[in-house]
Amino acid sequence: MSVAGQQFETDLVELRNRVNARLADYMTTSTDCPEKLREAMSYSLLAGGKRLRPVLVLLACEACGGKLEEALPAACAVEMIHTYSLIHDDLPAMDDDDYRRGRLTNHKVFGEGMAILAGDALLTLAFEVLARDIQPAAVAAACCADLASAAGCCGMVGGQVADLEAEQQLEKQNQNSTDAHGSGSDPEQNRVHLAQLEAIHQRKTGRLLTSAVTMGARVAQASVDSIHRLQEFGKRVGLAFQIADDLLDVTGDAAKLGKKVGKDATLGKMTYPALLGIDASRKKADDLITEACRLIEPLGAGAHPLGELAKFVARRDH
Ligand code: IPE
Ligand code: IPE
Ligand code: MG
Ligand code: MG
Ligand code: MG
Repeated sequence: MSVAGQQFETDLVELRNRVNARLADYMTTSTDCPEKLREAMSYSLLAGGKRLRPVLVLLACEACGGKLEEALPAACAVEMIHTYSLIHDDLPAMDDDDYRRGRLTNHKVFGEGMAILAGDALLTLAFEVLARDIQPAAVAAACCADLASAAGCCGMVGGQVADLEAEQQLEKQNQNSTDAHGSGSDPEQNRVHLAQLEAIHQRKTGRLLTSAVTMGARVAQASVDSIHRLQEFGKRVGLAFQIADDLLDVTGDAAKLGKKVGKDATLGKMTYPALLGIDASRKKADDLITEACRLIEPLGAGAHPLGELAKFVARRDH
């Protein structure tokens, strides 16, 4: 690894530590929270994870000349939303997973009712933290709007709905055909499926990642042009991130990932490797990251770590 690469990895550990420490603080300061609920929320929130979204917030803030410390509440808020989405994604009614972040899923330990409520509580805590701890109030309001729009019906939740609907659609098609969504099936149908899949991934994953970078930029009080640039950067990184996630479900190592592999094929999910094959999916992710890095070049040297993080997203093994 290059010296610059080593330095970036060291910086990443430092940023994760700062996020983890602040998340732990937020868990202990909610004094009236029922103890069992706090335990269930902390179990998933403080279980590790790559902390990509919070680090994106911090690096986007720095790229726009802002102070990292001031962006920490937004970094924690997006991680709370992300963790809630994972708890609900793993429920039996959704992907029905037993492992997450190297441990049993929330509902396996606390039961489905408590897992649903722990997710709900993380969702609401995220907005409490943003509205109270981001300064000035106008920036807090803009961040609340970004995050709510990214997480809600037109963003992550909408994307999760589309993901479930595509699963049902493919199941029906598979009943009528033996090769409904494999690569090499009818090219026209493949083209339609790819457009549908890109829209699903943009919403279920891309929007939240994009809100991470725009919130960082807003805290730094960046120009409209910089925010727009970062938005376009976030869209590409977000899509590349979910393509990498799809690829890791096929090629990854469960121990490193901290979650089961091979689930997408079992559930009949619409994914990039299923539609394009492994090599073309990798190329698509790499091309998106190249474009994303080019987009932030005008921001100068301050945006260099953000570009490094984007490259990490595509080449990660966990
Ligand atoms: C997994 O996200 C869920 C997706 C949106 C694909 P991450 O891979 O960021 O999970 P953690 O936060 O590191 O556990
Ligand atoms: C989840 O996508 C996206 C979310 C909004 C949570 P996946 O279902 O592919 O995520 P993993 O593979 O379970 O982490
Ligand atoms: Mg899912
Ligand atoms: Mg899942
Ligand atoms: Mg996945």
